[in-house]
Parts: sequence; structure tokens; C-alpha cells
Amino acid sequence: MDLNSKIYVAGHRGMVGSAIVRLLEKKGYKHIITRTSKELDLRNQLEVQQFFQAEKPEIVILAAAKVGGIHANNVYRAEFIYDNLMMEANVIHQAYVSKVEKLLFLGSSCIYPKLAPQPLKEEYLLTGVLEATNEPYAIAKIAGIKMCEAYKDQYGCNFISAMPTNLYGPNDNYDLNNSHVLPALLRKFHEAKLSGATEVEVWGSGSPLREFLHVDDLAAACYFLLEQYTGKEIVNIGSGVDLTIKELATLIKEVVGFKGELKFDATKPDGTPRKLMDVSKLKNLGWEYSINLKDGITSVYKDAFKTQ
Ligand SMILES: NC(=O)c1ccc[n+]([C@@H]2O[C@H](COP(=O)([O-])OP(=O)(O)OC[C@H]3O[C@@H](n4cnc5c(N)ncnc54)[C@H](OP(=O)(O)O)[C@@H]3O)[C@@H](O)[C@H]2O)c1
Repeated sequence: MDLNSKIYVAGHRGMVGSAIVRLLEKKGYKHIITRTSKELDLRNQLEVQQFFQAEKPEIVILAAAKVGGIHANNVYRAEFIYDNLMMEANVIHQAYVSKVEKLLFLGSSCIYPKLAPQPLKEEYLLTGVLEATNEPYAIAKIAGIKMCEAYKDQYGCNFISAMPTNLYGPNDNYDLNNSHVLPALLRKFHEAKLSGATEVEVWGSGSPLREFLHVDDLAAACYFLLEQYTGKEIVNIGSGVDLTIKELATLIKEVVGFKGELKFDATKPDGTPRKLMDVSKLKNLGWEYSINLKDGITSVYKDAFKTQ
């Protein structure tokens, strides 16, 4: 990618989009195009068409999406499928119409079947039934993947898709009503430390295994794929390393400096026992993660909670 390339990062205020913009700016890219959802509602076909005609981006990174936790995914099922399908259909189609040189579509690990073997290999896509709570979201993401494939098949478009694992980093969501496990635990331990609480309650048994990747590593992987990858098949992005929720909670307790106890509430659901990406494809292409979990959590904690 030329430093003068016109790059549209859709969703630049989100955790993923902002990390990608930070990386591109650091590398010296001068023509990064951004729009908030207020300025450009990607669900609106006409607005998207006019935007592409006016701006003529050369590279597109589609990091805009309606995203949420289990509760939101399950309750706002219609919004999750409608909003995501519309955004993807409009952006991918207009990228084709305006002859975009390369497009990167971002999906997520929820596209894989609920009972797929672990670690999750790219080839497990569409081999089984999806997790019911986020099925509308996953179906929309699968449609995005299939659009990239179909536009490559029929029109020769250089559109690629990447599937990140669980992410954490700057601009994460710390709202305990709908945040992911890592930011939720950071906030809980931080507040417990401030209030002098003697214990912190962690949902579930603590035994499920999960994988986490710093969003700056994700941005680096996206950049690598934009530069190096033109294949039709999806590519997983992760660290390839998992740990139990208990290990994660213990690590966060240590980073925050909370001196009390951990208490596991086994009456709360554990979710799937293990969720780990197989990242051998990305590794074979030549990319590996670099931010270890403890360092990543330490920097995120300092940044988000303004600690020294
Ligand atoms: N976070 C994770 O752990 C994770 C893991 C795997 C995959 N991913 C994938 O990465 C992508 C981005 O996730 P994220 O965590 O960065 O999400 P996020 O922080 O919620 O950001 C989503 C962005 O999408 C934009 N957006 C939403 N609706 C829009 C609309 N109608 N029109 C235009 N823009 C709209 C928002 O723009 P405004 O701010 O302007 O409203 C927002 O900046 C998603 O595809 C997600 O599936 C995320």
C-alpha cells in the first residue's frame, strides 16, 4: 500500500477501527478517510453510494458493525441481523462499483459452529449449527464473508476476510451490563481495590478456556493481510494461546493490585468450555502476535483507569 493511498476505515471510533487508524497514522499514511455513523449511516444505500462516488477510496477496511455482548445479541436479534447485513452489502457492493483495489472485511469467531472442534480452523465454517444467542449476528457476518468470496469469483475483486479472536485494548467497553469478560474483570477489580472490598465475584466456575489478543496486534495483522494476502479463504487472527477464566482473573487481580479474594459464582453460566482460534494459517503466511497478555493488560489498565 502506497503512503498516498486513499484508505477508508469504516468504524474508526470503535476499538478495532481506532487501532487500525493509529497504526496507519504511525506508518505515515496521509489519506485516511473516516466518517462517524451520524455523518454516514452505512445502512443507507444511497448515502453509501454517494460517499463512494465522492471520495473514491482505493482501500477499504470494514470495521464498522453493530456489536454487543450475549444479552444484546439475543434481545436485539432483528437489529443485529439487519444493521450488519445492510452495512456489509452497501459497503462491499459500492467498493466493487467504485473499483476499490482492496477491501478487508472483519468477522468474528462466532461464525464457527457451536460444537466445532477446538482449536477452530478456517475450514470449519458452515459445517454445523451456530450458537443460538448470536445466530443473527453470525449469519450476517457469514453473509459478509460470502459476499467477499462471490465478488472475487464473479468480478475478480481483491476482497479478503479476517476473523479475529476476543480482543482487548484502548477504546474497549467497560459498561458492566454489556462488556466482555476481560474489561469487565478489570473494572470489577479496580473498583474493589478502591472501595477496599475483600472479595471479587467472577461469573461461572472459572474453568472455561479463552483466547485474547491486544487490538494493536490485530491492527498489525490486518495491515499484514492487506499487504500480503489475496486469497479467497478467510484467515483467523489470534494469539493461538488460551488460558482459563480463573487464570485470567488471577492475572488481572495481580495487575490491578487487588489484595482480596476471588469468588467464583458457579450458578452463573460458563458458556462454551473452550474457544481458541487455530492460527497456523496466519503463522504460515508469516505473522505472529507480539503483545503478551500481562503487558497488554498492564498498559490497558493504566490507560483506561488513568493509573500510574
Ligand atoms: N471487540 C472484539 O472483541 C471483536 C472480536 C472479534 C471481531 N470483532 C469485529 O471487529 C469489528 C469492529 O468491532 P469493534 O469491537 O471495534 O466494535 P465497536 O467498538 O462497537 O465499533 C463499531 C463501530 O461501527 C460503527 N457503526 C455502527 N453502526 C454503524 C452505522 N449504521 N453506520 C456507520 N458506522 C456504524 C460505529 O461508529 P460510530 O462510533 O461513529 O457510531 C463504531 O465506531 C466488528 O466487525 C466485530 O465483529 C471485534
